[in-house]
Amino acid sequence: MEKAYVPYSKFPVGAALELNDGTIIHGANIENGSYPLGNCAERSALFSAYSQGYKKSDIKSITVVGNTDKPISPCGACRQVMHELMPKDTKITLTNLKGETKEVTIEELLPYGFDLPND
Ligand code: THU
Repeated sequence: MEKAYVPYSKFPVGAALELNDGTIIHGANIENGSYPLGNCAERSALFSAYSQGYKKSDIKSITVVGNTDKPISPCGACRQVMHELMPKDTKITLTNLKGETKEVTIEELLPYGFDLPND
C-alpha cells in the first residue's frame, strides 16, 4: 500500500504474492492521468512475478489489502487475470486495515472464467 501511486483515487491497495520458493513479490496500484490505464495491485504483483521469470506453478498464495470496511474485493479484471495466471488452488486472502480476513479460491471469485480455446 505504501508504494501505491494513487493521486486520483487516493485509495492505496497492496498485494503480496507468495511463491513456493519463499519469495514475496509486492504489487501496488499504479494510476494514470488517462484513468483507464491505471493498474490494480493484484495485477501489478502478478505481472511483476511473470516479468521476473516466475510462472503459474511457482505461485502459492496472494494477499490483498486496502482500507475497506469489509475485506477488500478484487475487481473483475483482476479476477480474470488471477484465473489465468495463478493455479486453481492458490490461497487468496483478502484483508483490510482492521485485520479482518476472508479466504477465497479463484473459482469462488470468478466462476466460469474465460479461457481461450486451444487448437
Ligand atoms: N484497486 C486495486 O488495486 N485492487 C482492488 O482489489 C480494488 C481496486 C485500485 C484500482 C484504483 O487504483 C483504486 O483501487 C480505486 O479503485
